[in-house]
Amino acid sequence: MLPIRQTPKNLPAPAPEALFHSQRLCALLRDEIAAAGGALRFERFMELALYAPGLGYYSAGARKFGADGDFVTAPELSPLFARCLAVQCAEVLAALAGGDILELGAGSGVLAADMLKELARLQQLPARYLILEVSADLRERQRRTLAEQAPAMLAKVEWLERLPPAFSGVIIGNEVLDALPVSRFRRVPRGFDEFNVAVEGGRFVWCLRPAPAELRAALTTLETNLPQPLVADYCSEICVRLPAFLYSLADLLTRGALLLVDYGYTRQAYYHPDRYMGTLMCHYRQRAHPDPFLHPGLQDITAHVDFTAVAEAATAAGLELAGYATQAHFLLALGIAGDVHGSTSAAGGRGAANAAPGAAMAGDWRGAREVKLLTLPEEMGERFKAMAFSKRLDLALRGFSLQDLSRSL
Ligand SMILES: C[S@@+](CC[C@H](N)C(=O)[O-])C[C@H]1O[C@@H](n2cnc3c(N)ncnc32)[C@H](O)[C@@H]1O
Repeated sequence: MLPIRQTPKNLPAPAPEALFHSQRLCALLRDEIAAAGGALRFERFMELALYAPGLGYYSAGARKFGADGDFVTAPELSPLFARCLAVQCAEVLAALAGGDILELGAGSGVLAADMLKELARLQQLPARYLILEVSADLRERQRRTLAEQAPAMLAKVEWLERLPPAFSGVIIGNEVLDALPVSRFRRVPRGFDEFNVAVEGGRFVWCLRPAPAELRAALTTLETNLPQPLVADYCSEICVRLPAFLYSLADLLTRGALLLVDYGYTRQAYYHPDRYMGTLMCHYRQRAHPDPFLHPGLQDITAHVDFTAVAEAATAAGLELAGYATQAHFLLALGIAGDVHGSTSAAGGRGAANAAPGAAMAGDWRGAREVKLLTLPEEMGERFKAMAFSKRLDLALRGFSLQDLSRSL
């Protein structure tokens, strides 16, 4: 996500019908808080705020993605992102001699539309393009996007209600991990407290409770893996459901690759003493701010990704780490700026996967601007990382041919 401004103040007021929608979600949240005895774990608050059926931010009708929404993601910013991912997918599909693509959390559907067009151009279309989307509203939006932007590809696309039992091909998730609910904690002398949400004077407020056993165990393991213990009052978050999420993906992948792109850090950088307030962030109408209690249901709530935790969980689940690089290096390796690293045949070796997707656009000013937004360190280039895993795939992925930071994890 690319917030345009960072300010908790002077946020635009929601329209009356949007406020009404938010009030309905607030009523549900208050009921849950009451049912939980007056304090609800933040992880559950975040889950409901984002995914409560018909009411949560991702489940309901807010615009969300794009310039007139709350934030802009890489595929919304430029089709060059999708074209690079298509080059990487084409390489894997060629090595597998076929297979499907499974996109997790497909947003507006623009990544699917642009990737399918590029894969058709590369003559490496998947057998099927599967989309797993938790939001019924987004499923409809994705169908519309594909019908408008890639009608010839619509027959390839299937929407899934749940993960398939087995899958061969490429699984992709752009900015999905950052949307998984997280637990917030504070280091205290006796161990860890967990941030809960209570209601005071009709408003949501934070309250601290001793961390329950499962969270305490996860945090104790986390702390023993850090170079130094967390300092007193250190606050951050942890995604306790991440290992199960990755296990389910590893379990269904019979052969192929899993590619995740998101903003995040290695564990050591994530839990660095300087980052003592964590990474929890909200996006509302192109503003980033830290208050998750503002207009529930009308804003996104997100946390950065601990890529060390991702690598540990995925490899423990049987996947092989295939690469970890900044988004800039990943996209450059896949040819976003044209043939920037020598001959297009140097890194790949298979015809379809060796085309340089940026070549067609990098020459015009708009393409050049988009390349900058996706790759410059102060834009999305370094904060975002690409991480890939493989199973029964004998292939060095082209996306990591310029940089592989796996050893930094
Ligand atoms: C920040 S949006 C990113 C959307 C899109 N990938 C993009 O880059 O524009 C997060 C997406 O992840 C989806 N999501 C969240 N949890 C998920 C899960 N467990 N499985 C699949 N999708 C999920 C959300 O519904 C949403 O579409």
